[in-house]
Amino acid sequence: MPAAKQPDSFDILLYGATSFVGKIMVEYLSGLPQNEFSWAIAGRDEQKLIALKAQHNLTELPHFIADASDETALTALCEKTNVIISTVGPYALYGETLVKVCAQTGTDYCDLTGEPQWIKAMLDKYEDEAKHSGARIIHCSGFDSIPSDLGVYFSQKLAIEKTGKPASQIKMRVYKLKGAASGGTIASMLNVLKEAGEDASLRKLLVNPYVLCGPEHPFHQRQKNHKKAEYDSELGIWTMPFVMAAINERIVHRSNKLLSSLYGQDFKYDEAMSSKTASKAWITTLGLGAFVGAASFSPLRNLLADHILPKPGEGPSREEQENGMFDMRFYAQLSNGEMQTVKVTGDKDPGYGSTAKMLSQAALCLAKDISDVKGGFWTPASALGDALIERLGKHAGVFIKEL
Ligand SMILES: NC(=O)c1ccc[n+]([C@@H]2O[C@H](COP(=O)([O-])OP(=O)(O)OC[C@H]3O[C@@H](n4cnc5c(N)ncnc54)[C@H](OP(=O)(O)O)[C@@H]3O)[C@@H](O)[C@H]2O)c1
Repeated sequence: MPAAKQPDSFDILLYGATSFVGKIMVEYLSGLPQNEFSWAIAGRDEQKLIALKAQHNLTELPHFIADASDETALTALCEKTNVIISTVGPYALYGETLVKVCAQTGTDYCDLTGEPQWIKAMLDKYEDEAKHSGARIIHCSGFDSIPSDLGVYFSQKLAIEKTGKPASQIKMRVYKLKGAASGGTIASMLNVLKEAGEDASLRKLLVNPYVLCGPEHPFHQRQKNHKKAEYDSELGIWTMPFVMAAINERIVHRSNKLLSSLYGQDFKYDEAMSSKTASKAWITTLGLGAFVGAASFSPLRNLLADHILPKPGEGPSREEQENGMFDMRFYAQLSNGEMQTVKVTGDKDPGYGSTAKMLSQAALCLAKDISDVKGGFWTPASALGDALIERLGKHAGVFIKEL
């Protein structure tokens, strides 16, 4: 049975508040109207939490200590809050115990994982328990995969409104993107490559676009996988692989499953970056291929992690966050022959400035807006849908509109 919540439980509790992205969230959350929600922070290191509170004049903000492997301490955190946000990653290394206790105690949860192999493992182990306890678990509530998931959801609702049918195919093209990766994100990517390098069955699992749809799903369409630079004659643009497609495409198909095939059982979806020229598309593709090739090979991966790439806790400067942005286009083939274009934009760097706002608003949406959604493992679009679209436009600088 779910553990009882304390009567004065918080709306949201940010676990991993001292992470690179967690610190940005503390600043963002402290700037929102404080009479509209209650919150607290947690982490493994009390001195760091106290210093963070002092930095933002938040000495009254409650804080709690828990190591990611301490089941008792994490259960105690769950009793104190309705929603836990976790930024403690790589999730495949540190995230499981918290998901387990949330599923056991009926505590709602959201995070920033982009690790499909770990999400699959959590689904297999804890989905039944979450359904039973009432815990709503939502992975991928940052740049991956909120813009993709909500962009497709919005496009399909518009298509149905116009023609009575969903679009049979949507192509997402990253039109512009300005931002950089943090050490935490690099650590997560390197860990996926390490795990895939060691396990052939995992490599097979990772290429399945329906891997997160569960054992029984009605989908069978072959999906396009962008591996190289290509000219898309239908859209008249050059494309190159988009590194986040590996998680975003899987989350979009899971949303379709959870929304009872709202997008249709034959729905096709693919993501790529767009490029103005063939040369840029090829140079970027070759650079990405060289990085993945090097990072898949253990000695080079260690060299990159130890000497070249940002370390956990490091990330883009405040100026880079402020000057960052993203603009994604969703081209939907409608049943009446029309090509519908929807644009999703964000006003700060995607991975940190914007992700911090998206994750905070997803957690508030979970705490405040969706009492009718039952327990289970959801996606941002399937659980939060229209309510989150509204919140992001009002409070997070993320806008979704038809062009
Ligand atoms: N989906 C997206 O769009 C997106 C965007 C950004 C980040 N991310 C993901 O979000 C996660 C955080 O990224 P980041 O760059 O902010 O990472 P980071 O700065 O490296 O922070 C990692 C956090 O985990 C904590 N931690 C590590 N081991 C722990 C343990 N045993 N017990 C408790 N806490 C522990 C660290 O605590 P200390 O502070 O005490 O060291 C730190 O707060 C990563 O997994 C990253 O891939 C995803």
